Amino acid sequence: MTPMLEIEKLHAGYGKSLVLRGINLHVAQGEAIGLLGPNGHGKTTLLRCVSALHRPSRGDIRFEGTSLVTCSTRAVLQHGIVHVPQGSRLFPGLTVTDCLRLGAAANPRRGVARTLLSEVFDLFPKLAQRRTQLAGTLSGGERQMLSIGAGLMAGPRLLILDEPTLGLSPKVRHELAAAVQAMRSRIEALIIVDGDMDLVLGVTDRFFVIESGQVVRTGESAAGAGSDQIMALFLGET
Ligand SMILES: Nc1ncnc2c1ncn2[C@@H]1O[C@H](COP(=O)(O)OP(=O)(O)O)[C@@H](O)[C@H]1O
Ligand SMILES: [Mg+2]
Repeated sequence: MTPMLEIEKLHAGYGKSLVLRGINLHVAQGEAIGLLGPNGHGKTTLLRCVSALHRPSRGDIRFEGTSLVTCSTRAVLQHGIVHVPQGSRLFPGLTVTDCLRLGAAANPRRGVARTLLSEVFDLFPKLAQRRTQLAGTLSGGERQMLSIGAGLMAGPRLLILDEPTLGLSPKVRHELAAAVQAMRSRIEALIIVDGDMDLVLGVTDRFFVIESGQVVRTGESAAGAGSDQIMALFLGET
């Protein structure tokens, strides 16, 4: 069966500096994958290539067999690929509900905002409590929940989360991990990058370690949990 997402020999960089050097990976329908690896080695660049925010220089990205490399960001969104970027920015002057409704504007299915809004509030009860509050007054954890919630409002088939727990306390990270687990039944596939290796391995089926723009290791997340070797690769100590 054709994987949902296939990335083949992907190269990308900035000007003369090459960041991705032949990435191969695939995500099957129903699968969650995690990207691990030290900072500055190309994880965000890879995600930005998938959502057409960055153009690769060589290689291919196919979604259900269709190449995405010449697609616009809008066309990628219409395929159901929704990217919640690292350090996602919100509109601080809008209420929580309005930020979520804005997310639904990107949803190719019309008239689903009300249902999705109640699903997002079920998933993140804190957002429900703060529904009339301005986004700019939320805590870091709540802002991250709002960014993910707005992403869910866009109706993802493949959801991409880049560093959702950056800067958050262990307690809030735990809450986010539980929400990510709970949302898995609502989306067809997930790609997550995060600095919390245990969280990534806990919510995914397979992982890929990216170092110097290449996949240096891949495996089943359950088998990777607690591995000192992966920890060393993850921290770039090898
Ligand atoms: N907009 C940019 N312009 C130039 N270089 C960039 C840009 N974004 C990222 N880089 C460089 O690309 C490399 C990979 O960055 P990134 O993909 O953000 O890695 P990661 O997400 O793994 O931390 C780094 O060396 C970074 O400095
Ligand atoms: Mg990054």
